[in-house]
Amino acid sequence: MTVLLFQLMVEQKISYNHKNMEVFKAIQTRYSVRNYKKDPVPTEKLQKVLEAARLAPSAHNAQDWKFVVVQDSAKRKALAQAAGQDFIATAPVIIVAVALEPEQMMSSGNPTYAVNLAIAVDHMTLMAAAEGLGTCWIGAFSQEEVKEILNIPRNFKVVVLLPLGFPAGVPGPKSRKTLKEIVSHDSF
Ligand SMILES: Cc1cc2nc3c(=O)[nH]c(=O)nc-3n(C[C@H](O)[C@H](O)[C@H](O)COP(=O)(O)O)c2cc1C
Repeated sequence: MTVLLFQLMVEQKISYNHKNMEVFKAIQTRYSVRNYKKDPVPTEKLQKVLEAARLAPSAHNAQDWKFVVVQDSAKRKALAQAAGQDFIATAPVIIVAVALEPEQMMSSGNPTYAVNLAIAVDHMTLMAAAEGLGTCWIGAFSQEEVKEILNIPRNFKVVVLLPLGFPAGVPGPKSRKTLKEIVSHDSF
């Protein structure tokens, strides 16, 4: 089993060679892009972003998600309207992340889909940043309207709209709490 796994890693050029890891750079670079260039997203870059979602972990490896890639201009405009956020339509691509098992709960009392989908979408935002692309999490939108626009069945749940494209502006300063404010050790 271990040999097989190793073989698979070699074949797929997967390794944990830390010298190749640029994750922190992508984390530092990513910001919410609210203004996009008209340039299309090259197919290889789009594929890489989607692959980053596909490889994301999920509870019980359920992979309880589907990602609708929206490039049609009329549908992008309709999605922007459903969110009441015009800038979304300026992105050449909007990836709509859909949870297929929104009723599932973990024994911890947390909804599984929210955790799973958040990880997959964050993978996409970081891969996009690494590819020079911008994204913006969109969590404020009409669930019903988005489902209607994209023919999403009622029993599923739309979690995030993710505009994707080349950034037209420059990032502002990051506003974050200090580590001291958000971390404690050995006790809350
Ligand atoms: C779950 C979630 C939902 C969000 N929804 C929206 C949204 O509807 N519209 C928007 O412009 N930004 C939205 N954001 C972006 C946040 O405002 C942004 O991430 C935060 O201000 C930090 O800025 P940064 O992403 O540039 O680092 C959302 C972010 C998250 C994580």
